[in-house]
Amino acid sequence: MEFKELLMSRYATKKFDGKIIDENKLEQLFEMIRFAPSALNIQPWKIKVVTDVETKKKLSAASMEQAQIITCSHLLVFCANTDLDGNAQKTLNLMKKAGVPEENLEQFQMIMNIFLSNFDSETGVNEAQCNVFIAAITAIYAAKSLGIDSCPMQGFNNEEYSKILEIPSSLVPTILVPIGYPADKQMPKLRFTKEEIFF
Ligand SMILES: Cc1cc2nc3c(=O)[nH]c(=O)nc-3n(C[C@H](O)[C@H](O)[C@H](O)COP(=O)(O)O)c2cc1C
Repeated sequence: MEFKELLMSRYATKKFDGKIIDENKLEQLFEMIRFAPSALNIQPWKIKVVTDVETKKKLSAASMEQAQIITCSHLLVFCANTDLDGNAQKTLNLMKKAGVPEENLEQFQMIMNIFLSNFDSETGVNEAQCNVFIAAITAIYAAKSLGIDSCPMQGFNNEEYSKILEIPSSLVPTILVPIGYPADKQMPKLRFTKEEIFF
């Protein structure tokens, strides 16, 4: 599918038909999400995959009973990983392993240190969350390219999600992407004009 076709045919699915996505497709989707871009390649995300019906029922109550949560095949809970320092070190290790020359590594580390010094615990969460949004957007288009529908969702209580899913405090549930096959129809796309957007 051309990107324009993906763009126009993807829509925020309100209800899924409950059909389960097969493992092979799911693997392809997860592999594509893994390649989402992030600032300095820190990849500050962890994605909880929920399929259990009883758990989904509890999560539905913490998501304004929106139908996507119960009816989806898989619910992806995109969490911001607030351990930016830890992930920065992992990224540097990856670069070392890949044989990046020492001088380039040193320069990268210097930039990384400046970058990390910008954040305290609150702004660090914001930074991680900005990157998580990019991973989630990658997921919705990657899914569509595989014939899977989805809905980005922020209408949920992240503290309740952390409790129900026993998510460690270093991870902040930020955006949901339920995926599956639709039981609704796409509505016409309503968007501002180019003149209103570009200046
Ligand atoms: C950050 C974000 C949060 C959203 N939260 C919800 C949500 O909680 N429930 C829902 O049904 N749709 C949600 N949406 C979907 C939007 O309503 C939808 O993308 C928008 O109306 C445009 O429609 P389209 O995606 O079908 O083109 C969300 C979208 C984004 C990007």
